[in-house]
Amino acid sequence: MKISLVNDEISELRTDCVLVGLFKNEEENNECVKHLDLKFNRTFSVLMGDGEITGKPSSLTLVHSLNKILPKRVLMCGLGERDVLTTGKLRDFLSSAFRKARESRSSSCSVIVNSFMTDSISEQEIISIASESANSGLYRYELYKSSKDESNIDELMVVIDNDDFSESSDSLYKYVSYGESIGQSVNLARDLSNGPPNHMTPTRLSEVATETLLGTVINVEVMDIEKMETMGMGALLGVARGSAEPPKFIVMDYIGDKDDPNNSIALLGKGITFDSGGLDLKSPTGMRTMKGDMAGGAAVIGAMNSIAYLKPKINVLGIVPATENMPGASAQRPSDVVTAMDGTTIEIDNTDAEGRLVLADAVCYARLRGVNRIVDIATLTGAVRSALGDQCIGAFGNDPLFTDTVIDAGDRVGERIWELPTFEEYKAQFSSDIADLKNSGGSGAGAITGAMFIGSFVDEASWVHLDIAATSGTNRTKGDLVKGSTGSGVRTLIELCRILANKN
Ligand code: BES
Ligand code: MN
Ligand code: ZN
Repeated sequence: MKISLVNDEISELRTDCVLVGLFKNEEENNECVKHLDLKFNRTFSVLMGDGEITGKPSSLTLVHSLNKILPKRVLMCGLGERDVLTTGKLRDFLSSAFRKARESRSSSCSVIVNSFMTDSISEQEIISIASESANSGLYRYELYKSSKDESNIDELMVVIDNDDFSESSDSLYKYVSYGESIGQSVNLARDLSNGPPNHMTPTRLSEVATETLLGTVINVEVMDIEKMETMGMGALLGVARGSAEPPKFIVMDYIGDKDDPNNSIALLGKGITFDSGGLDLKSPTGMRTMKGDMAGGAAVIGAMNSIAYLKPKINVLGIVPATENMPGASAQRPSDVVTAMDGTTIEIDNTDAEGRLVLADAVCYARLRGVNRIVDIATLTGAVRSALGDQCIGAFGNDPLFTDTVIDAGDRVGERIWELPTFEEYKAQFSSDIADLKNSGGSGAGAITGAMFIGSFVDEASWVHLDIAATSGTNRTKGDLVKGSTGSGVRTLIELCRILANKN
């Protein structure tokens, strides 16, 4: 999509559809409405009087201009009350509006920045959010469709009201690029986890990571099975045994602060490209969405894509342990004992609790690399949905300050994160009679014991685990979320790196 900044009058915009924000209880004072009323013989006031155009949150009213002004259509976007608008909601409203414009066959759009501004949401933020949601809101996954949808928006004009504005060299352009980068990274993560599992194999995932980051400041190394054996990644290899597809351990290195190796963070993403459950086979319904079991890995690759562009002053190590979890002839069995990279022995209690196994070795590897802050992100447990539903990501950690920083990062970018406890006493649930640990915590507190299993490999580092099992996919398009994979966590990870970088 081509995105430009312009400083033109609304009626002079050469665009198929212009988006105007409208706050509740302020409909009469809206500057755009006043201006449009003059050109439209009071049509807008009349439609407001009839209750058709309103500032109610997420209302959308399309008005055809039939040559009264240059834009072919005006789309009035209800924003609710001014004081309660957040950047997250704004992104939802704009995403829905872009889709409505696309449905109306518009191929170009404009956004009147001023009409969306509040005391707490600046011009720069609106420019970014518009550029971001024009990407994420219009997302479609059509790779395997023989005939692609013909409706398409390929041009966005972001309209600002600033007489000092220079179209060729304005500093505001960086907010366009920033928003575009975020939107594209979210869409990259969506593409990866929407990918069918026979195509999006561990090998393919590692190729996409390599290709995407090729020629950037990020170095990608893909370890194969022999290397994993040498490293002693027995927990990951145990999961991979049942599959004909070879596992891959994807490592993405970004050096943003070479003078201070302690200024570092590792982002670990569960990369199970298909989770059949293994010998503890899932039910058909349980298995149906399991191509998305690499959404955590996809989020990390997505985040690295923006980190390559934003270049924050912090060292970021992205790690995606990628494998299928299949019940092949040499699959691991319940009762097997495997040995993780740090020597911890693990009794396999349930082959379907595979995410914590691959992440255990990823944590060990991050520790070996000397990273002192670790965030892992995973579609880890069905239990997190029972606990929190799909309105927030579950968080777990060992350092309250760091956990708060991660939650705050989510807050700033409209991703809700809610912390659950990690009391020592839960550990009894995953102690084994014959090994150091077992990989399932039995019934009760499933999301917590899953998280704490991973946490037991962390040692000294500050660590947060994000369980995105409930938020990583949706079966209905709403706001910024498009049916299918959501890209959950991408924005939080990027924002977290920016926050930590700015502390230095
Ligand atoms: N990938 C699943 C978790 C999951 C479930 C993600 C539903 C998205 C939707 C994970 O590997 C799993 O199977 N977890 C088990 C753990 C149990 C065996 C201890 C679960 O949640 O049932
Ligand atoms: Mn599983
Ligand atoms: Zn899984």
